[in-house]
Amino acid sequence: MCDNRSVKRVGIFGGTFDPAHNEHVNLAKSAIEELSLDSLYVVPTFIPPHKKSLTPAADRLAMAKIAFFDLKKVTVSDVEIKREGKSYTYFTVEEIKKENKDAELFLLVGTDMLCDFFTWKNPERILLNCTLVCAGRKGETVPDGFREEFIKRFGKDYRTLNFSGKEVSSTKIRALISLGLSASEYIPKAEEEYIKEQGLYSDKYSDYVKEKLPEKRKIHTVGVIESAVKLAKRVGVDVEKARITATLHDCAKYERKEDYPNFSMPESVPPPVEHAFLGAYIAEHVLGVEDEEIINAVRYHTSGRAKMTDLEKVIFVADMIEENRVYDGVERLREAVEKDFNSGFLLCLKEETEHIIKKKGPIYEKTIEAFNYYVKGE
Ligand SMILES: [Fe+2]
Ligand SMILES: [Fe+2]
Repeated sequence: MCDNRSVKRVGIFGGTFDPAHNEHVNLAKSAIEELSLDSLYVVPTFIPPHKKSLTPAADRLAMAKIAFFDLKKVTVSDVEIKREGKSYTYFTVEEIKKENKDAELFLLVGTDMLCDFFTWKNPERILLNCTLVCAGRKGETVPDGFREEFIKRFGKDYRTLNFSGKEVSSTKIRALISLGLSASEYIPKAEEEYIKEQGLYSDKYSDYVKEKLPEKRKIHTVGVIESAVKLAKRVGVDVEKARITATLHDCAKYERKEDYPNFSMPESVPPPVEHAFLGAYIAEHVLGVEDEEIINAVRYHTSGRAKMTDLEKVIFVADMIEENRVYDGVERLREAVEKDFNSGFLLCLKEETEHIIKKKGPIYEKTIEAFNYYVKGE
């Protein structure tokens, strides 16, 4: 590549930044170095065309300013937020080009975005003004023949950064903060302070759990939230419902049913399943959850039952395979779920039932019904 230093080199790095985290900063640093950029625009999106963000744009902008504060070549831009409409990249690139008429522009994209580039709005107009730079995560590759197809279609190549980022889950960062756990491994201290001051990422459900659960159970809950959100996206379940249910699933783990005089535990419910029934009661009557599906997914998260909804399955599975679980065979379950959700769910249910039988623990009738329905097909 011709490195004519009289031409300014300007990068563009867009995203939801909900929140901006250390791995974004590492990527920006590497891009600045590898592409010899004179400046890099970090552009939080307003309403991403494919992704709905609930965090106010102004907060995401403020968090990005804090996270990228030490990188002198970075400008956090409000170009998309000010525009308020859908965040179309071609438009943003043209705006930045207007401000940097003689500069050479580079647009950073993730591997999945690069692979989707053919479906973007006005891809030719984007490439007229800039070169795409693929910033992939470790292990990510484009499909065979993709580069050739790209060049054939657009008459222009793209670049690939040597830097390969670690996968950092924004869901996990938000969940940690929502339950009052430290996220300092992922975001700068000052940003964490800002989030706390503004009360971002928490709601009455997380506030309740934050107060009621000990740290170890909170860490497990964060794992369940992360896993449930990921599965929900894959299976097509409402992501916000999955997040709320996962947050609440063990909310009654340390509560005593005697403290809830209006609650009556059905007689057949064995002790290990009781917290799920009390949890469903608390969700509905203490926290005001009206959504039956959420309440049921809390109620049956331990036992399962016949004819579960996809949300119920997602929570049941997430509870069993979340990243902090360490029992024998968990890796096999994770792999099965990764390969195919429904057969992974069946395996989880089978192993759970067999585990209770082996332990000679009391087995709840709904678990037997679920086993017969899903595993035996009765
Ligand atoms: Fe539980
Ligand atoms: Fe749990």
